[in-house]
Amino acid sequence: MSAPITGGALLVTGGAGFIGANFVLDWLAREGDPVVTLDALTYAGNLANLATVARDPRHTFVHGDIADRALVARLLREHQVRAIVHFAAESHVDRSIAGPDAFVKTNVLGSFALLEAAREYVGTLPDSARAAFRFLQVSTDEVYGSLGPQDPPFSETTAFDPRSPYSASKAAADHLASAAWHTYGLPVLTTHCSNNYGPFQFPEKLIPLMIRNARRGERLPVYGDGQQVRDWLHVSDHCSALRAVLARAAPGSRYNIGGSSERPNLEVVRTLCALLDELSPRTDGASYAAQIAFVTDRPGHDRRYAIDQRRIADDLGWQPQVRFEQGLRDTVRWYLEHEDWVRTVESGEYRRWLDLNYTGRDPGPAGHGSPGAPSGHADTRSQAAGGGSDKARASSAIPPDAGTAPASRKGHAR
Ligand code: NAD
Ligand code: TYD
Repeated sequence: MSAPITGGALLVTGGAGFIGANFVLDWLAREGDPVVTLDALTYAGNLANLATVARDPRHTFVHGDIADRALVARLLREHQVRAIVHFAAESHVDRSIAGPDAFVKTNVLGSFALLEAAREYVGTLPDSARAAFRFLQVSTDEVYGSLGPQDPPFSETTAFDPRSPYSASKAAADHLASAAWHTYGLPVLTTHCSNNYGPFQFPEKLIPLMIRNARRGERLPVYGDGQQVRDWLHVSDHCSALRAVLARAAPGSRYNIGGSSERPNLEVVRTLCALLDELSPRTDGASYAAQIAFVTDRPGHDRRYAIDQRRIADDLGWQPQVRFEQGLRDTVRWYLEHEDWVRTVESGEYRRWLDLNYTGRDPGPAGHGSPGAPSGHADTRSQAAGGGSDKARASSAIPPDAGTAPASRKGHAR
């Protein structure tokens, strides 16, 4: 076959999910190369995220699984793929605690199958095309484990210490990708980003969940004392970092990507409430903060993530551009303007998840005045609004017929 050195396509796995969709839209807006999106359309994948490029001749959507090696081999060959950008994953820590099997299946075995398909394909390429090929493994800072308040941030040489089934499965995939580079010379690049936020994030993750619950008059469930720290990275900054890595990073290299925005969860939730108070006030005049409720902590909850990103700044000249306060404001606006999108992704499966994860989480210790968390946040008004017990609150908060079925989302697959 001919050599796809430049002008070959990008194969983007998981491109109908949150970061993948932002990446595909961003790429097609800025770069000329075609994109093939491969996505299994799990609960987290949504073709509506790619609606604006549905008619773009440079974009092809394929409904399929990364573990389907025959399919991946055909796509690589037919589209003369020059780079794989691998986002596809089960991505939610709480779900990995409730059911780790899918995480091992997709994140470990699926990633392995993709690496093997890439290795076979690259073996068929002439030297120049093989040298130009890239496999970008999109990973997470969570593989590094959990930091104390005074610990230095994660660097690219921090030893892996994953502590949830999710981060363990991502670490396993990272090791397999690294092995493919060292053993077979597959030109792998690995990135470890911090918590992303922005448009199209599925409302199971902290920021969109809080916006959704606030707007529905439901409680805002803060795990434990709410003092866990995450470094928030706007998804547009993540996309620009990935473009820089693809364009300029040496094969075999590894880069951390952060937002330089470390914040405790409770501060994030309070800021969201203040933004909602300003942009879409409650009809009763009370603050959305009245809905904050401390609930039982996540098992094995990592206390703090923080990113040392000197390497990507020094090597590739990349730095985050979005200030957290502005990024959060834009994100709140986006969710307020796209409440129909939120309703569309709220399938029956989503409601079952809310029930599974939040029913029976009793109010946590912080709500009873533990040090580090201001007292009085397990708000009585939200409890009154949602019913007496947690079970009652959860069931009254989730109407059985809310949302729409996901089936129609899957009808567009080509
Ligand atoms: P997401 O859950 O929103 O989307 C995942 C996408 O992958 C969905 O479209 C889903 O349908 C698809 N998918 C799942 N299994 C698949 C399979 N077997 N074959 C093909 N497609 C499949 O996830 P996200 O938040 O966009 O995360 C993307 C990547 O970035 C993941 O690898 C995740 O580990 C990593 N990451 C995310 C964050 C974050 O804050 N969201 C932070 C660090 C790293
Ligand atoms: P999440 O968005 O699930 O990302 P991750 O676990 O990958 O960091 O959670 C971000 C933080 O918010 C994490 O410390 C857990 C916390 N959290 C809550 O306090 N309540 C919630 O309902 C959720 C979903 C998360």
